Amino acid sequence: MVQGFSREPGTHGPLTEVAPEGIRRITLWAAAIALGGFLFGFDTGVVSGALLYIKEDFDLDAFEQGSVVSVLLIGAVVGATSAGRLADRLGRRRALRLIGVVFVLGTAIAALANGYPTLMAGRIVLGLSVGAASATVPVYLSEISPTMIRGRLLTMNQLMITVGILVAYLVNLAFASSEAWRAMFAVGAIPALLMIAATLWLLPESPQWLIAHGQEDVACRGIAELTDGPTADELVRRARQRTAEDREKQRRNEAAGGRGTRRLLAPDVRPALIVGLTLAAVQQFGGINTIIYYAPTIIQQTGLDASNAILYSVFIGLINLVMTLVAIKLVDRVGRRPMVLASLALMTVSIFMLGLAFVVDMNPELTLVFMVVYIAAFAGGLGPVFWTLIGEIFPPSVRAEGSSLSTAVNWVSNFVVSLAFLPLANLIGQGETFWIFAGICLLAFLFVSRCLPETRGRDPEQIEEALDARFQHGPDRPDRPGGPRGTASPQKGRSR
Ligand code: GLC
Repeated sequence: MVQGFSREPGTHGPLTEVAPEGIRRITLWAAAIALGGFLFGFDTGVVSGALLYIKEDFDLDAFEQGSVVSVLLIGAVVGATSAGRLADRLGRRRALRLIGVVFVLGTAIAALANGYPTLMAGRIVLGLSVGAASATVPVYLSEISPTMIRGRLLTMNQLMITVGILVAYLVNLAFASSEAWRAMFAVGAIPALLMIAATLWLLPESPQWLIAHGQEDVACRGIAELTDGPTADELVRRARQRTAEDREKQRRNEAAGGRGTRRLLAPDVRPALIVGLTLAAVQQFGGINTIIYYAPTIIQQTGLDASNAILYSVFIGLINLVMTLVAIKLVDRVGRRPMVLASLALMTVSIFMLGLAFVVDMNPELTLVFMVVYIAAFAGGLGPVFWTLIGEIFPPSVRAEGSSLSTAVNWVSNFVVSLAFLPLANLIGQGETFWIFAGICLLAFLFVSRCLPETRGRDPEQIEEALDARFQHGPDRPDRPGGPRGTASPQKGRSR
């Protein structure tokens, strides 16, 4: 038996134990919807290889090439910003279906483009869906997850992002000799169609969304099937009671802090907002995508054999994936906080050394080692755990909005770093640019050690209290068993 959903909003109380069969089904749903993460990775990764041939076909100059890459990021900012409202209004499942349809549309426009303008249009449409998926998938995953395996299920999003990036690199490799860039893009339609199919025939609506929209009976019948615990009627009774309490609390909060996006600024949500937005920015300003997007270019500059550059990037993609798997194993055991701290510490050292390698002209193999350590450090911590945290730090009433805003900030930061990297490296030097990233990782380490409480095994109220305690009392305020008001102790035990 796995403890789960125990004090989730709406389902607070009603569900205490999830049967092993239930866990299997929930894991299958999580894997299916993480296809949204796959598309994120695939569509951001595939363009690096496709561009080599597109630029010949459409005769693109350097600026136009850059714009084909980065226009997707602008679309993603818009997609992520609108996703919260979409998922609240349509329900998570229908929102995800719509996002799948937009994916297919964007893929078709890009793959069939007859010139630069249509290609740009296709990339923007793809960006809308990538951004919307990146904000909606963590919310859905969080809402179907029993507490004890919530971390693991939420990291599935990042796992599929890394799988998507790796598959994109491999697709690039496979179609390179035939220069078939249209086929490279078109492969993305397959997971998008699978995602649409999953929302039609496999996935249930999020129980929390159903309960928030007066459909307790549907939600609780679904939940009852996953447990050996209370009957559906009993669950409905508890859910109604809990919803009444939640409504009352929300009404009080709204009276104090307004509605919708403005609610995000209410005093009780502010710590979550600060942590969410800072982590979103740091996950990008630590420099990760300079390696993911420009690996072949950087590798060439180290003096390693240029003809192997794509192969080296496949290797980097593989490390990224393997370390994400390690993170998934650890996240519900070790906890989020130690993982992010260790990750940032190692990222700081490795990217500092990478910078040094360029500044003093170290041997190329050593440069590659620092790069690999840096990717491994990101993938084993900050990369996946960021997506876990934004799914769980916001109180349920603003979860979709909060996740959506953090994701939008993540995309804006991604856009700024990807665009600024090459010019900055030309201006102050490649190594010195990496040192800036090292400085940011160090500051992020200090921020996390002061402001991020452990969220493992805690329900939304306990997370809110723990965040509050950190912001009011600073780091020396206990954050462990017997913590704030003695309630915020992570549940003990294994997630099976
Ligand atoms: C994270 C980042 C994304 C990056 C990826 C690399 O999910 O948000 O921008 O490309 O990790 O694995």
